Amino acid sequence: MSLETHIARKNLAIHPKERRIILKHADRPDYDASIDCYLRNGGYDQQKKAFSMKPEEICQEVLDAGVRGRGGAGFPAGMKWKFLDRKSGKPIYLICNADESEPGTFKDRQIIHKDPHQLIEGMMISAFAIQAAQAFIYIREEMPYGAKILEEAIEEARAKNLLGDNILGSGYSCDLVVHRGAAAYICGEETGLIESLEGKRAYPRIKPPYFPAALGLYMCPTIVNNVETLCNVKHIIEMGGHAYAEIGKPGNTGTRIWSLSGHVRKPGYYELENGVHTYGDLINEFGGGLRDGRQLQAVIPGGSSAKVWRAGERFKGKLRSGEEFDWAIEDVPLDFDGPMAAGSMSGSGAVVVIDDSVDIVEVLANINAFYAHESCGQCTPCREGSLWMKKITTRMANGGAREEDTALLASIGDQIAGRTICAHGEACAWPTQSFVAKFQDKFLDKAKQDPEQLSKRDFRMV
Ligand SMILES: Cc1cc2nc3c(=O)[nH]c(=O)nc-3n(C[C@H](O)[C@H](O)[C@H](O)COP(=O)(O)O)c2cc1C
Ligand code: SF4
Repeated sequence: MSLETHIARKNLAIHPKERRIILKHADRPDYDASIDCYLRNGGYDQQKKAFSMKPEEICQEVLDAGVRGRGGAGFPAGMKWKFLDRKSGKPIYLICNADESEPGTFKDRQIIHKDPHQLIEGMMISAFAIQAAQAFIYIREEMPYGAKILEEAIEEARAKNLLGDNILGSGYSCDLVVHRGAAAYICGEETGLIESLEGKRAYPRIKPPYFPAALGLYMCPTIVNNVETLCNVKHIIEMGGHAYAEIGKPGNTGTRIWSLSGHVRKPGYYELENGVHTYGDLINEFGGGLRDGRQLQAVIPGGSSAKVWRAGERFKGKLRSGEEFDWAIEDVPLDFDGPMAAGSMSGSGAVVVIDDSVDIVEVLANINAFYAHESCGQCTPCREGSLWMKKITTRMANGGAREEDTALLASIGDQIAGRTICAHGEACAWPTQSFVAKFQDKFLDKAKQDPEQLSKRDFRMV
């Protein structure tokens, strides 16, 4: 099936327990990506409402909503907007991060493909709120269909004066352009993205001093937000910040679109109210559970860079609220704080389920191959360490494991995390550190397995 046919498929089943706000219309059989359809469904009403407000009032609503970034770090959007350096007098820029490069993540493209005007409306409200002079959507090179849809949608919006000069007669002007990315994972890191948007190689900048809110695009104050984050702004204007904050749980407001993949019967994307469901619900109820006869082996809770959980492990501690917890994987709340309390993160909202049919060393070798390939090479620990971890795990998976490999891997991971310019250092170290710590027995076992037998298997990644 071609990508277009797949995307055009209608009547995708929506689970009755989903709480669809961002994807409210996306899979309706009578809904399409045109501006006419969007307008028929109340589209751009919130932009009109927002343009009748003062920009600082919109910023306050976003702050009151407590909406946290959906791109990975979960930083509150309203707070980020507050950090904008408005005193410099330089133009302010807004960038939508549509790189969606974290393996396992496929949520932003649903919005872009099926409801592009929602993103444009969210962006124009946000641009007005921060008084941006120019807005950009940086979309990954490998999503040409999404880029085309966005370009067409922007033309439609421009024709109706929803962006461009003197928008809706408000006196405020802001154009929006689509920039196709440079096809590298590191282009998703916000400062790498900015370098790439400036036409350079996507070498991340060191923070401090290069926090985009102060020194971003062309060294001007810049806000970078994820696609899903910016869509939420439209709904915050519709509901009001405080009413939005009633959805979900304190500190974990709104909904989130989870990308569920791996060994479940019903992989897919599910928009769920934050903190109301658990990882167990996502895997067993929304995802339909594991295949017959299979046992859960591991879960990666927030994209391939998140620390892995081993089936059967328990997480104990105290939440910020003071409440004590003792969870199995299945009990961890699906929100921002739950996975963090359980030693990992919700990251990009990509949950990868791994059953007992796969070799866990091969899983790590696969992940390591990705991160080694995607290191930009500026920092020695990341450049050398990621490649070294890849080489060791590939050799182990192919029958050449040595007894000392497990400790060596742990030590390399420990020497990368926290010692690099950007968080790719953590992204490449955390899988190795956590897989080796949690599956130590399986890594040590590799050195005891018959190399002849192992070398006859399929795994050959180089
Ligand atoms: C290596 C790396 C890759 C990233 N890739 C993405 C990405 O593809 N999409 C995204 O929205 N954020 C990505 N991020 C996070 C961004 O740097 C940034 O925090 C985010 O776009 C901010 O948006 P938010 O506050 O709305 O989440 C990445 C971060 C790192 C360190
Ligand atoms: S941590 Fe890795 S990806 Fe990030 S700047 Fe350093 S070398 Fe580049």
